[in-house]
Amino acid sequence: MKILVTGGLGFIGSHVVVRLQEEGFDVVIIDNLSNSDIKVLDGIVAITGITPAFEQLDLREKSAVSNFFNTYDDIGGVIHFAASKAVGESVENPLLYYENNIGTLVYLLQELQKKEQASFIFSSSCTVYGQADQMPITEMAAIKKAESPYGNTKQIGEEIIQDTCRVSPNINATALRYFNPIGAHQSALIGELPIGVPQNLVPYITQTATGQREQLSVFGDNYPTPDGTAIRDYIHVVDLAQAHVTALKKLLKNEQATNFDFYNVGTGKGSSVLEVITAFETVTGKKLNYKIVDKREGDVTQAFADTTKANNVLGWKAEHTLEQALLSAWNWEQKQ
Ligand code: WQD
Repeated sequence: MKILVTGGLGFIGSHVVVRLQEEGFDVVIIDNLSNSDIKVLDGIVAITGITPAFEQLDLREKSAVSNFFNTYDDIGGVIHFAASKAVGESVENPLLYYENNIGTLVYLLQELQKKEQASFIFSSSCTVYGQADQMPITEMAAIKKAESPYGNTKQIGEEIIQDTCRVSPNINATALRYFNPIGAHQSALIGELPIGVPQNLVPYITQTATGQREQLSVFGDNYPTPDGTAIRDYIHVVDLAQAHVTALKKLLKNEQATNFDFYNVGTGKGSSVLEVITAFETVTGKKLNYKIVDKREGDVTQAFADTTKANNVLGWKAEHTLEQALLSAWNWEQKQ
């Protein structure tokens, strides 16, 4: 049996491939290299010594997806990362997001419907909650109207999977709602490879620390939070990768109570932007050049996870601290 990882050369996908291989799974990667680099494959092999099968194809081509599943007829599970994920870009180009994030999901599920049994893990996001009313955020929190087409594709994606699982008992599915993934593998052989100017906080911090960026802009310090800057739940990508392997094993053993379930995947701890900056300076000894600017459109004040369900039902818990994650991000950046 093989496990398909779509977007397996991406930031989170590559870390999941490594953990799957370490757990003895036979992995096939699909990636169209639109937002990743073939070099990541070398990083994976350098860590595990195992070369995964790799198919460069675009999941937007329905025939390519069918041909893939005809060729690889022993796919027992799919972990689906391949999607566009830039919030701002999704506002500018919504149809790119609806085609790429929804169309590909439909084609994958149509193939899984044909199988005796299939496990499916969906890369979702805390973005589905928008600005939740209560912190920490539980899975019972209201799903609010998405603030961007990107967030909408995650909400719609979960609904598509739920509706499909209702008519397809042969599919066992889990949606993992990520909070903020940061950091890199301890080997510094794989990590985050933002293309162009980083949108996310931590890669912008590490590129400022290396001098590649002149100065970090802190988007707003007048939020209703202790230090005025926005709060997020920053989770080490290695912990996030483990959550996927734990979820997959549960699905393969048919141990999930219902054939569709979802979990918040975070540390349960909220950190403000200034706290992240201070932690980075402490663990690296680097002084960070930053300035406070206006808030960024669409940002929420706070988002951090209640991890009770992930801990007790999924059977997973984050193990790394913010400081460890930041140091791993710094070690990775220094090697770029
Ligand atoms: C974190 C905090 C910013 C950059 C997004 C997506 C989410 C997921 C993760 C895909 C915020 C502040 C940032 C900077 C800053 N992506 N910031 N200066 O926006 O919480 O989540 O990325 O799945 O779906 O919504 O992450 O890293 O962009 O921002 O002050 O240069 O850092 O305002 O408070 P975000 P982020």
